Amino acid sequence: MLSIKKVIASSLVSVFVLSAALFAGTISADSGQAELQLAQLSDGFSAETSYMASCFACHSTGAAGAPKVGPGNAEAWAPRVAKGMDVLVTNAISGFNVMPPKGLCFTCTDDDLRAIVQYMVDSSK
Ligand code: HEC
Repeated sequence: MLSIKKVIASSLVSVFVLSAALFAGTISADSGQAELQLAQLSDGFSAETSYMASCFACHSTGAAGAPKVGPGNAEAWAPRVAKGMDVLVTNAISGFNVMPPKGLCFTCTDDDLRAIVQYMVDSSK
C-alpha cells in the first residue's frame, strides 16, 4: 500500500516538474518576444536579408581575415564571442581593423546591427 502511494506521489512530482518546465519555457519565449518589440529595428528589417546585402561579401569568403559565417565556423567565432556580445556589436558599429564601420550597412540602426551580429553568430555553430 505504501509503495503504491510512493509511486503515485513520484509520478505526481514528475508531472509537476514537467508542467513547471513547460511553463518556464512559455515565460522565456514571451519575454524574448517582448525584448524584440522593445528593440528599435527598422521597418521590414530581416537580419538575414541585411546580412546578405551588407556583410555576406566579406563574411562568406573570409575576405581580409573576416570571420566566416555559416555552419562549421564556430571556431572562427569562439574567441570573438568570448569578448561578449556588447563588444562585438560595438565593433560592428564603429568598425574594427579592416572591418568597416556599420559593416557598410549605413541604413542599419544599432539594434539592426546587433540582430545581424546575433544572426551571424547563431548561424556559425
Ligand atoms: C569589407 C569587408 C567586410 C564587410 C562588408 C563586413 N565585415 Fe565584418 N569583419 C571584416 C573583417 C576583415 C573582420 C575581422 C577584423 C579583425 O579581426 O581584425 C570583421 C569582423 C567582424 C566582427 C567581429 C568583430 C570582433 O570584435 O571580433 C563582427 C561582429 C562583424 N565583422 C560584423 C559585421 C557585420 C554585421 C557586417 C554587415 C553589416 C559586416 N561585418 C560586414 C570585414 C567585413
